[in-house]
Amino acid sequence: MTLWQGRLEGGMAEEVAALSVSVSFDRCLAVDDIAGSKAHVRGLAKSGILAEEELSVLLDALDRVGEELSSGTFVFEPTDEDVHTAVERRVTELAPDVGAKLHTGRSRNDQVATDLRLWTRRSLLELVGEVVRFQEVLLRRATEAGEVYLPGYTHLQRAQPVLLAHHLLAHGWALARDVDRLVATVERLDVSPLGAGALAGSSLPLDPDFVAEQLGFSARFENSLDAVSDRDFVAEALFDLALLGVHLSRMGEEIVLWSSQEWGFCTLDDAYATGSSMLPQKKNPDVAELARGKSGRLIGHLAGMLATLKGLPLAYNRDLQEDKEPLFDALNQIRSVVRALAGVYGTAEWHPTRMQASADESTSAAIDLAELLVTRGMPFRRAHALVAGLVRESAARRVPLVELVQAHPDLGDVGAKLLEPGVAVTRRTTPGGAGPLPVGEQIERFFRRLDVDRSRLAIHVQTLRAAPVPDAAPASTLAESRAPGD
Ligand code: ARG
Repeated sequence: MTLWQGRLEGGMAEEVAALSVSVSFDRCLAVDDIAGSKAHVRGLAKSGILAEEELSVLLDALDRVGEELSSGTFVFEPTDEDVHTAVERRVTELAPDVGAKLHTGRSRNDQVATDLRLWTRRSLLELVGEVVRFQEVLLRRATEAGEVYLPGYTHLQRAQPVLLAHHLLAHGWALARDVDRLVATVERLDVSPLGAGALAGSSLPLDPDFVAEQLGFSARFENSLDAVSDRDFVAEALFDLALLGVHLSRMGEEIVLWSSQEWGFCTLDDAYATGSSMLPQKKNPDVAELARGKSGRLIGHLAGMLATLKGLPLAYNRDLQEDKEPLFDALNQIRSVVRALAGVYGTAEWHPTRMQASADESTSAAIDLAELLVTRGMPFRRAHALVAGLVRESAARRVPLVELVQAHPDLGDVGAKLLEPGVAVTRRTTPGGAGPLPVGEQIERFFRRLDVDRSRLAIHVQTLRAAPVPDAAPASTLAESRAPGD
């Protein structure tokens, strides 16, 4: 049965069904579809369109469908075009007369937009919880790392020593921006499109404000055409996920480098490494590589979605059905990456001796020599040239830099001391810098930032729970998770 059987004769051609049926992937919206339908019928009853008894029959039927779906006893029929059709078909089977009133004043256009907003809100908040748990891992590892240092790189050339904690938290702050973006996307999508109908609203006395409140949305749509055609929230979510994916990819790349024999900065835990089917000795960083690889797919989803949207005239067009698979896939992929990579970072064994030996090359402290000269009154450009000349001479004559420094009248013993192992990193004392003093403060600030983000998330999760629609809250929430040592 199609929903438009009065208008078109006969059934849908097989090829058309093959092209357009979406129930294989949009069935994950079922929980949200039921929540949306319950709010809708409550709205119809409030407006007097449904009698109280009709409302309770419909609510019971919708609950029953919800139970069938969650227990796995729900049977999707081959004729169910999408999840909305499937739910309405089953409600009508359970309550034939009243079921026929379910779709009053509603279109699948405002229905699907509502379902997808509910799903995205719930899923992004769940993901924020996962990202914060990863940040907690980074914070723990940064705290444990103490004064261990390693080379900081520019152009992948050793540049200056930095604390390992500083390096780990650099990734932690990038993730903090991801959290910020995800929460902002949730806040912007917090608008109910239900009541926009197919595109123009209704002649029936609907109450979109009441329905919005029922679903825990802060507001209803302002413009019905915009309500049914707006997929900004999908594009934004895909951007947030693509950029988060890029951050995870960069973190993965570093693990690939660090765990290589050439770097030797870490050994992966066996549970987070993989072997080779042929080479018995291999221990491979596949999780890190998949984190890197998946980011390409996430960027593709964003580009695809923007291309889908760019030529669409107002209002709803069937092209919009193409919003779901990329969004669902992006969320699924990123969730697996966040969890697995958090495991990699949480369990990797660092090799401080190797890290520090690489950072202790005397040229890594060249800037300290130039800055010593600056504190003694030499203009920086001259100081830079003087030290660069010593480094060049040391390389050309194969004389250790420290000997040349010691012998130089402007540098001498004080200069030579700056080149001793472990000294340079302690001299990065400015706010946000890589030495022990500012990193100690940074750890505090990061800890507080996690607390703030946990509270922001808890407020959103509470709003979801307060919505009088069961099953609208995320399964796992950040409210329960605390920072280690908290
Ligand atoms: N499955 C459709 C989608 O995802 C639902 C809306 C269908 N609306 C329509 N006018 N055909 O967009």
